Amino acid sequence: MSVAPWIRASVRAVPPYVPGEQPAAGRRVIKLNTNENPYPPSPAVLGALHDAVDDRVRLYPDPEAVALRTEASRLYDLPVDHVMAGNGSDELLALLLRAVVDPGDHVAFPVPTYSLYETLVAVQGGVCDTVAWPADWSLPAAIGARDAKLTFLCNPNSPSGTLVPLEEIDALAARLSGVLVVDEAYVDFARESAMPLVGRHPNVVVLRTFSKSFSLAGLRVGLAFGHPDLLAGLRTVKDSYNLDRLALVAAEAALDDLDHMRANVARVRTTRTRLAKALADLGFSVLPSEANFVLARRPGSDLAPLARALAARDILVRHFPTTEVRDALRITVGTDEEIDMLLAALREQ
Ligand SMILES: Cc1ncc(COP(=O)(O)O)c(C=O)c1O
Repeated sequence: MSVAPWIRASVRAVPPYVPGEQPAAGRRVIKLNTNENPYPPSPAVLGALHDAVDDRVRLYPDPEAVALRTEASRLYDLPVDHVMAGNGSDELLALLLRAVVDPGDHVAFPVPTYSLYETLVAVQGGVCDTVAWPADWSLPAAIGARDAKLTFLCNPNSPSGTLVPLEEIDALAARLSGVLVVDEAYVDFARESAMPLVGRHPNVVVLRTFSKSFSLAGLRVGLAFGHPDLLAGLRTVKDSYNLDRLALVAAEAALDDLDHMRANVARVRTTRTRLAKALADLGFSVLPSEANFVLARRPGSDLAPLARALAARDILVRHFPTTEVRDALRITVGTDEEIDMLLAALREQ
């Protein structure tokens, strides 16, 4: 008996999830494929986690994440009702789809971009209205003309690492009748953020994550900043206890030690400059990146074999098999030592 028909048709239509390559236990792998931070989180975060492991794990966590949201509201100078916490920004993206998009509604975004948007829209039964980024990765004017229920802007964008300037996002938000989600997963590595637009435009939601700049990908914490009525809609469709106790403790401690995060970001940015130059010297065309990764292209060639050759040497980088970027590798900025090993392997190819 086939059990597949029990799964909704819109879910069955989505290609099965293929997790990124994970290092085998006990093996040293240079992991430059999922944009994690190569440096550890603040010692204060690790200390707070340690202190929190006691019999309080019997108790449910705060469903409203009040302490974390209060800390974030102070830091970003927004009222606490303009802040919501999620189980990674991935959960917040899923909640946005669930709260805003009915089957058949349109969701617009420039492509290539974070692939989860397309999956979430498909699962919800929405319609993807994609617009290709132009060759210079400037904001495509057509994105504002789609009049979608929801528009995603990944800024800095993945996999390009490019940034749309604040004034252009401001103008886009004013033009759209639907919700504009600015996914700022990588913004701490960039020169500016769209956070000032929250409060100025009721339709803007800014998403942040602790997975990149704060080195906490394993704990799954994200934040959404937006109009309280929009966030109330998201809260209605979330799990009651969407963040666990330890994740909350770690995120609060991380916001209390911004200096540590900023020092790690500075190191990543310095290595990013060195990596981009070295890749250019190796004949790649490299886009100026505002994120913790770079996109290195060999126009016209398919770089899948190169990604496989690196993987055979335990160096994982990201290759996307789509037409627009199959001639590129997205390489996370690792430690200087990791980048030296990557460059040595590339020189031998
Ligand atoms: C653009 C973008 N948004 C969101 C996420 C998800 O982040 P989180 O770990 O907070 O779910 C990622 C993860 O790689 C990402 O690249």
